[in-house]
Amino acid sequence: MRQRDELVSLVRLDGVTKSVTLPDDSTLEILRGISLEVSAGDHVSIVGRSGSGKSTLLNILGMLDAPTTGTVAFEDAEVGRMRSGRLDRLRGENVGFVFQQFNLLPGRTALDNVMMPLGHAKGRLFWNRRRIAADMLERVGLGHRIEQIADRLSGGEQQRVAIARALVRRPVLILADEPTGALDIDTGASVMGLLDEVATETDAALVTITHDLHVAARARRHYRLDAGRLETADLSRAFEASTLAASVPSSGAVVPAEAVAS
Ligand SMILES: Nc1ncnc2c1ncn2[C@@H]1O[C@H](COP(=O)(O)OP(=O)(O)OP(=O)(O)O)[C@@H](O)[C@H]1O
Ligand SMILES: [Mg+2]
Repeated sequence: MRQRDELVSLVRLDGVTKSVTLPDDSTLEILRGISLEVSAGDHVSIVGRSGSGKSTLLNILGMLDAPTTGTVAFEDAEVGRMRSGRLDRLRGENVGFVFQQFNLLPGRTALDNVMMPLGHAKGRLFWNRRRIAADMLERVGLGHRIEQIADRLSGGEQQRVAIARALVRRPVLILADEPTGALDIDTGASVMGLLDEVATETDAALVTITHDLHVAARARRHYRLDAGRLETADLSRAFEASTLAASVPSSGAVVPAEAVAS
């Protein structure tokens, strides 16, 4: 086990804000002053209401989007100062993204999709990319569907292809946006088990956005995004609230993760 002072900082956000200008010229402040450090081996969960800025935050953590103000550092190097070629390489080699909408290449097979991140790899990873991708598809339970065209797969199957694609290059930072959103409880649990397992094997950091309290609870550090601000979340209180709601027949509502008490 690593000691605290040995933790390797992977990605660090300092005072990050994100604003966009809307068509009526007004400004929407999506993120307001977020500071967060994610280290190797960390497992962080983020919950929050729809529209609270979770995907925006994940895109900034994964260096796909730049903040309006504040800084992002990857392994202590400030990302805002990097040329786009270096940034693309850094992202490709180090970050595995499970997108909320999967973002699979349409018209291509599951195998093509999972092989894609290995297309720019070097040496064995490149030459063995077909077998490595097929093995990862096997691990997400899709060994029998590798030649199927991605957009003809079911939603849950597409989600598992997206997860295999995120993990295939053994990234040190795994960013998962609602990775179980399209899965039934059992498949969701096994996919989260796989994300944990691969992250542990490579001492990778895993950041999971989720509406599911059980998924959030698998992480070691829990956060909630509320109106663009990040705060630590008390999941035990959220579980209590949801049990309470379930025991009151007239409520009829399931309390989602974003109801985490602030
Ligand atoms: N480029 C953009 N232009 C305008 N509005 C944007 C842009 N990007 C995000 N937003 C808005 O910012 C808010 C946060 O979006 P985001 O996708 O980060 O939310 P989220 O927390 O991931 O929501 P969900 O749980 O529904 O996925 C939303 O209201 C969205 O419409
Ligand atoms: Mg989102």
